[in-house]
Amino acid sequence: MITNDPASPYALGSTYAEHERLIRQAARLAPITERFFREAGISAGQRVLDIGSGVGDVAMLAARLVGPSGEVIGIERDPRSLDRARARVAEAGLHNVSFIQSDVSQITASEPFDAAVGRFILMWLPDPTSVLPKSPQVNHSTQPWAVSF
Ligand SMILES: C[S@@+](CC[C@H](N)C(=O)[O-])C[C@H]1O[C@@H](n2cnc3c(N)ncnc32)[C@H](O)[C@@H]1O
Repeated sequence: MITNDPASPYALGSTYAEHERLIRQAARLAPITERFFREAGISAGQRVLDIGSGVGDVAMLAARLVGPSGEVIGIERDPRSLDRARARVAEAGLHNVSFIQSDVSQITASEPFDAAVGRFILMWLPDPTSVLPKSPQVNHSTQPWAVSF
């Protein structure tokens, strides 16, 4: 059952099987996601926020787009998913991605972001519209909430 209770865990769980499902799904969606991000203006040197990172696929895709002069910060509340995401980032040799364990409603960051992205996250949030305008500390003078689907 899908629930909108903010205290409830992600309904699909955090098992090895769910992580593998996310990875398979991400492989299928990578070309569409990449095109979408490029068309939204995500490019070299940017600082990007990824909400609901799961096991890291969107953050890693964005990290390749922003390159070594850019940075991606992923927000994920589940520690098992974060362990997997961090291991995958290390295995991929990416040095411009890091993750913060947090609920997306509690995001704090010392510097603003150029863009914020998220994939398959809004449907899990009890009040998605409340997250969009306030959470990303995106520099709204240069970029709006860039991408979310
Ligand atoms: C369907 S997965 C999508 C993962 C990734 N964005 C992707 O496309 O592969 C949703 C993820 O959002 C996380 N999540 C759900 N609600 C959250 C919240 N309120 N704060 C932080 N993470 C959340 C879940 O733990 C899960 O890992």
